[in-house]
Amino acid sequence: MADRIVSGMRPTGKLHFGHYLGVIQNWVELQYKYESFFFAADWHALTTKYDKTETLKNDVRDVIIDWLACGIDPKVSTIYVQSLVPEIAELNIYLGMITPQNWVERDPCLKDMAKILRTKEGAGSQINYGLMGYPVLMSADIMMFNSTYIPVGIDQVAHIEITRDIARRFNNIYKTDFFNEPKPLLNNCSLICGLDGNKMGKSFQNDIKISDTDEVTAKKVMTAITDRSRMRKDDPGHPDECEVAFKYWQIFAAQDEVQTVRCECEKGLRGCADCKRMLGKVINEKFAPIREKRKYYEEHPQEVDKIIKEGSEKAREEAQKVIKEVRNIIKMY
Ligand code: TRP
Ligand code: SF4
Repeated sequence: MADRIVSGMRPTGKLHFGHYLGVIQNWVELQYKYESFFFAADWHALTTKYDKTETLKNDVRDVIIDWLACGIDPKVSTIYVQSLVPEIAELNIYLGMITPQNWVERDPCLKDMAKILRTKEGAGSQINYGLMGYPVLMSADIMMFNSTYIPVGIDQVAHIEITRDIARRFNNIYKTDFFNEPKPLLNNCSLICGLDGNKMGKSFQNDIKISDTDEVTAKKVMTAITDRSRMRKDDPGHPDECEVAFKYWQIFAAQDEVQTVRCECEKGLRGCADCKRMLGKVINEKFAPIREKRKYYEEHPQEVDKIIKEGSEKAREEAQKVIKEVRNIIKMY
């Protein structure tokens, strides 16, 4: 049997280029190598946004439509919604019983989230029981499919460590070797910075979304930081000090094109505005097929419904096999 991978994303709205280059592109390749499960982590979204659920359903759809557009193939991978696989909640209970409180308390990811929460006011600023359970629920996501590898960013590795500890503890307590100790498969994080040179993120308003139109993309690209020391457009430029625009060229254009940009910039033959206009075009061309596919799925909501329904049913079938075994191992009624 091929090794399994599981990975999920909290549905936080439409995805940007950072997600595409850092995560999704990676998933698209991995799906041909491993038996793959990809899911929208809507319960994890509730750990902090339990009081902001108006957009939750739509956010789940948006994230899945972005995956489909980018090339996650529902015929190859199992695409599902976490909350449509209630067996995960049952496994979460069993795992919660065997997880020492201090394991979750020292989880660094959780500490960061708690810090952000404390800066907020009123309800929503406190840490609920559910949020403390974040790493246990994540372990349930992973162990539900007894996966071998977990594609994640470096920020999530601590969570995989806890999962390994929980899996080992389960095996020890119940004298079994049923669960694998899953290993992280690192994504290429920080491949692309935001338009302002900082980390790309929705909340920093420095992102370009997969779903942005060509016009919006072109406009955003015009705001990209360039060589700050350059005053006039026929001054010689310094591509290596061009903080954002030239980096984007290197990511999105072919080698020879990048070389042309470098030469013309250094000789003062290309102004930054023109350069970014061209860059916008290159980016739009590159994303045209993805955006077309995205549009197709937006116009065919029933097809998306069907993919989610069938994927979640398939995930559930697998989950039911595991939960049955787990109940046996624990000696539940
Ligand atoms: N915590 C992950 C994130 O914020 C999302 C996630 C939830 C996940 N469950 C998972 C990732 C299981 C991998 C495997 O990015
Ligand atoms: Fe950057 Fe292009 Fe301006 Fe050179 S011409 S500094 S590469 S934006």
